Amino acid sequence: MKALILAGGYGTRLRPLTLTQPKPLVEFANKQMILHQVEALAAVGVTTVVLAVSYRAEQLEQEMGCHAERLGVKIEFSQEEEPLGTAGPLALARAHLDGTDPFFVLNSDVICDFPFAAMIDFHKSHGAEATIAVTEVAEPSKYGVVVFEEQSGQISEFVEKPQEYVGNKINAGLYILSPAVLNRITLKPTSIEKEVFPFVAADGKLFAFVLPGFWMDVGQPVDFLKGQTLYLQHVRKTAPERLAAGPHIRGNVIVDATATLGSDCVIGPDVVIGASVRIESGVRLRGCTILAETRIQPNAFVTQSIIGRKCNIGSWVRMEGSSVLGDDVVVKEELYLNDAQVLPNKTISTSVPQRAVIM
Ligand code: GDD
Ligand code: MG
Repeated sequence: MKALILAGGYGTRLRPLTLTQPKPLVEFANKQMILHQVEALAAVGVTTVVLAVSYRAEQLEQEMGCHAERLGVKIEFSQEEEPLGTAGPLALARAHLDGTDPFFVLNSDVICDFPFAAMIDFHKSHGAEATIAVTEVAEPSKYGVVVFEEQSGQISEFVEKPQEYVGNKINAGLYILSPAVLNRITLKPTSIEKEVFPFVAADGKLFAFVLPGFWMDVGQPVDFLKGQTLYLQHVRKTAPERLAAGPHIRGNVIVDATATLGSDCVIGPDVVIGASVRIESGVRLRGCTILAETRIQPNAFVTQSIIGRKCNIGSWVRMEGSSVLGDDVVVKEELYLNDAQVLPNKTISTSVPQRAVIM
């Protein structure tokens, strides 16, 4: 079986992290987002993964090329000259997807337990054109909402980002499509959610596979951190040996084996610490992600924030409120950052007490 991953968006809602790398390469729980997906696809016997790339395509090709051999999958690239949205890339990649077999299509920024084997069985059982994974959320307006018959899963309505309430079951961004769907798509910028799925649904050929377990679209900072909490809870249940333990650790925490922790730190709950990170003495971290090679100096406090790679956080700094630092940012000692988005390579010498983009 083949799979196509939509990996060509600009990732604007995850800036400044996506100013130096495409969104699918941002590390989630110390592994590039897209790798979580490619590994899960390989595990159910997918042999070829086509990456539909556009923004920062070279970086994706370089990084993912290295993983193909290890995972035993062929990785092919379908490069857009201009971004083709979420359906156009399927038309462009037609030659890669040739054949009569159904194939997976994934949004690159969703995280869950990827129950792909069960999805394949479900798709075979209904035999229609398309299966989409669905999940329930509290705020459906930022997603594609579906209405479906509970028994069969047959979808009667698909409404992308509805202005008015339609329901709370949403498109989780994981599909199995039969080749017939390709006949509905032309080679131009198009949205699968607005210009394809509503019509497949109207024809009675779109089916909902209800996702068991956790799910999150981690394409924006607040959701990235929520998704991290859910993911860590899942790891606690399924592979607790991957979580850190010890007197400094509270709740669910992942610490890369190459990271170092100073004395008297308190780390957790819901923290991920990346490769070669240096956490110095007396640091307090909770509900945050520290990406690779960053240094956090003594007695800093970081919560509800994402810190990019190679940053240097001064002593007694306090960071909170969905702050996101790009790569290579320096924050001078004793500063307060609240909801600050700091572009890569900046040095911050004054506090940011409320929402601001520092360029
Ligand atoms: N190749 C390519 N080209 N990929 C693209 C392009 C493009 O022009 N534009 C976006 N993508 C990719 C993104 O990288 C992402 O993997 C996927 O398409 C979806 O784009 P998002 O920008 O993340 O969409 P969204 O989060 O607002 O909404 C989508 O996901 C929700 C679930 O997370 C929709 O599919 C919703 O219906 C769905 O509920
Ligand atoms: Mg998204």
